[in-house]
Formats: sequence, C-alpha cells, structure tokens
Amino acid sequence: MSWTQLQRPSDLAGEADAVSTGELFSSAASHAARFRDLADNRLHRPSHDYAAAVDAFAAPLPERASPMGDVLDALVTAAEPGLHLTTGPRFFGWVIGGSHPMGVAADFLASAWGQNAGNHTVSPSAAAVETVASRWLLELLGLPPCSSVGFVTGATVANFTCLAAARGDVLLRVGWDVDAEGLFGAPPIRILIGDDAHTTVFSALQFLGLGHDRVVRVAADDQGRIAPSAFERAIADVSGPCIAILQAGQINTGACDDFRTLIPLAKSKGAWVHVDGAFGLWAQASAQRRHLTSGVEQADSWATDGHKWLQTPYDCGYAIVRDELAHRRAMTISASYLPLAGEGERDPSHYVPELSRRARGFATWAMIRHLGRSGIEVMIDRACGVAEGMARALAREPGIAIGNDVVLNQVIVRFGADLAQEAADNLTRRTIGAIQREGALFAGGAAWRGRQVMRLSVTNYQTDSAEAAKAVDAILRAYRSERRDAV
Ligand SMILES: Cc1ncc(COP(=O)(O)O)c(C=O)c1O
Repeated sequence: MSWTQLQRPSDLAGEADAVSTGELFSSAASHAARFRDLADNRLHRPSHDYAAAVDAFAAPLPERASPMGDVLDALVTAAEPGLHLTTGPRFFGWVIGGSHPMGVAADFLASAWGQNAGNHTVSPSAAAVETVASRWLLELLGLPPCSSVGFVTGATVANFTCLAAARGDVLLRVGWDVDAEGLFGAPPIRILIGDDAHTTVFSALQFLGLGHDRVVRVAADDQGRIAPSAFERAIADVSGPCIAILQAGQINTGACDDFRTLIPLAKSKGAWVHVDGAFGLWAQASAQRRHLTSGVEQADSWATDGHKWLQTPYDCGYAIVRDELAHRRAMTISASYLPLAGEGERDPSHYVPELSRRARGFATWAMIRHLGRSGIEVMIDRACGVAEGMARALAREPGIAIGNDVVLNQVIVRFGADLAQEAADNLTRRTIGAIQREGALFAGGAAWRGRQVMRLSVTNYQTDSAEAAKAVDAILRAYRSERRDAV
C-alpha cells in the first residue's frame, strides 16, 4: 500500500464510528448528569464488590473495532454498579471531597482540550491558569505571596515535592548538592515528625531515600498534636541539617499542631519546617477556624489538596514552597528540545515531579472563581458545624462516646463505650458493618489509641444539617440493632 492510502485514525473503525464527536460528548455528559442526580434513596455504597466489578469489565482482548457510542454505553454499564457514591451528601468515609460540578465541567474541558501542561509553549493557557490560581490559593490560605505552587496529583505527591525541596536546601547549606550527587555520602539529615503524622508523609520520606523509619518520632497528645515539650527535647541537640514535619489536620481528629510554639523552636536550630495540611490547611480560609492554624504561615513549605475541601475532581493537590529557587532546584526538568521559560513565564513542570501532565489548573481556577472567598469560607464553616452537630447528637445516645475534640470536620465515634474495651471494639466493628450494609450513609473505621473507632469526615459541599440528621438516624438505628443483638 502506498503512504497516500493510509487512513485517518477516525477511519480505523470504518463503519463502526458512525457517532460524531459532539454526540459522543453529549452522551458522556448525560450519563454524568444522571449519575449525579441525587434521588434521596440512592445508596451510599456500590452494589458490585471488587470481584463483581472485574467480572463486569472482563472480556477477551478485542480483535476488532467497536462503535464509540457502544463502547461508552458498555463502559457505563460495567462501571456504574461498582461506583461508590463518594460525591453524595452522606459520604463520610476517609477525607473525600465532592467533585463539585463546576470543577468537573472544567476538568471535562481539560480532557477535551487535551493540553499537556508541561510547559508554557505547549499550552500557554494551561501554564497561565496555574499562575493565577497559585496567587488565589496563596491569598486564600494566608501563605507568603512569594511562594511557588506546584499543581500535583494530591497531598502525597505534594508532601514528596516539598520534602524534596527541603532535602535539597538543608544539604546545600552544608555544601552538599543532593540533586546532583544523590544521597551517597551525604551528611545525615535529622527528621522530626509527629507520632500521629499521616502515613503518606512517611511514604514521601521513603520515596526520597530518607527512610520512613529513620526519623525521630515526636510524642503527640490525646488529639494527635505534637507535644511541644517533647518537640523541644527532640530539637535540643540538633546541630546539622534538619527537617521538622508538622501537621494541620490529623486524619482522625482534625487537630492541628501548635505552629506558634513549634515553628520558632525549629527555626532556632535552622530546621526547614514542612506542614502537611492536606485538608486542615483550609482552616486558614475561615475566620472562625483560623485560630487552629495560627502561625502556620511561618513554615517553609506546605502540602494541601484541591480534591478534598476545595471540591475539585481528582487528582489535584498543591505543593507550596516559600523559596521558589529551592522548589525549582528539586524539580526542574530540562532538555534542549524543551522550550525554556523566559523571564516571568511559568513552566509548570519545574514545580512537580512530572513532565507530561494533566492541565490541573483549570479545575482549581474554576472552583475558586465559582465559590469565591466567601463561598469557600461558608463551605468550610458548614462542614465544621455539621461535624459538631453530628457529634453532639450521637453523644446523647447512651453508650456512644465521641473520641476527639471536634474542632474541624473530623469525628471519631466509639460504640458501647460503657462496655469492656474488647466488647466495645466488637460492637463498633459490627455497627460500622451494619451501617455500610444498609447504605444510607458511608462511614469507615480506624484504630485510634489502640481501640476500634468509626470515623466521620465531613468534607462534601452538599452535606448540610438535614443530610447529617438522616445520617445520625441511620447510625443510631444500626447501633441500637447491633447492641440488641449482642445481648
Ligand atoms: C493529613 C493528610 N495528609 C496526606 C494525605 C494524602 O493525600 P492524598 O490522598 O490526596 O494523596 C491525606 C489524605 O487523606 C491526609 O488526610
């Protein structure tokens, strides 16, 4: 065959591709809208488990083309029974935002536009929108305006990125260029981290060659906050490179470290201070909650998420570093075939551990533009108010105890608190199981201080007091029934 007979890709499916791009996109949009239509009786649990979901997709490798419309319908049919209603108003599992329609619509376009947000020449708009969204984020979160922001996949990678900048900076100060020479033969770095830090921060240390166990774990109080006296003791004999890792928003309790006390202590020893604020850093956007994170702006780097409290769709996190040069040194990717940013231009890949990447800035820009500063504040205050209200309502029931001071959006609940510890562990486990089976809401469990608890994370923009009241009723129903059965 001559090269002049080669077909366009759209001809590859021949007769199969009768549907137009517009029809296909409209069909995807109507499937999406139907999924998001929240009838009150929608269950907050998938009907397929993992094995059933695999069966739903399983088929031999297709040998021939299929029409796009049919493929889309087949995808929806196979996927939907195994989708969790994480976007629903009574989803309290983990810390999962609601993928707000505004962010989703912007993200649809990011996919349709197909931009590679690696550098400013491939996509001036994808780079520019990050510049403006960065400014907005820094203002909302009350962080130094000179800071640089990397748009990453989530807080795990944000922690990794910030800690890479920290690692480079503290070693450069003692004459070691880790970005060039690696860690072989490098001076040791002392890493101080709270005992109740999030597991992904230990993973970030592991990915960076710093080791998840080669750290000084500093004792925490009953809410998971670093104990200042323990921190003072741990930092006392530091004399060389040091990174102190603090936290805004403990995953179970929502508690924030005492930044006003800890950051000056760390700085007095020249430590780089990093704050994991995956969701808790958003307290900064609320006048009512800002006292929790007071002083956090004195740190050197901050990790947070868009896909939690800002409600952008997955995947969207922010790596924020006060010293832009340290940030860029740790992340810059360069080659002769990649256009160089000129003065004042942004190459997004210089702030993240990726070259080719999704244009994440569009969804962030759209969410902030849509909600505005006041809408974001109302949303955060409402989630915190709902969490407090749910805790109060549950605590009225004999035998239910709330295991934390509800200061933010996290509640931990123990069922059978009047029973022996083992019996309460069992009853809590069984109550969680009953709640998940019924599906009126979703909540999961965790171990806290060695005992089984149920976690409620109020992170969805649609969760108001009416939805919370329905959830409380369902929790009490499950608890009473499990308790009766246990007798
Ligand atoms: C405190 C904290 N840090 C880090 C993470 C990891 O974030 P991501 O799952 O977005 O990577 C989470 C996730 O819940 C978190 O709560």
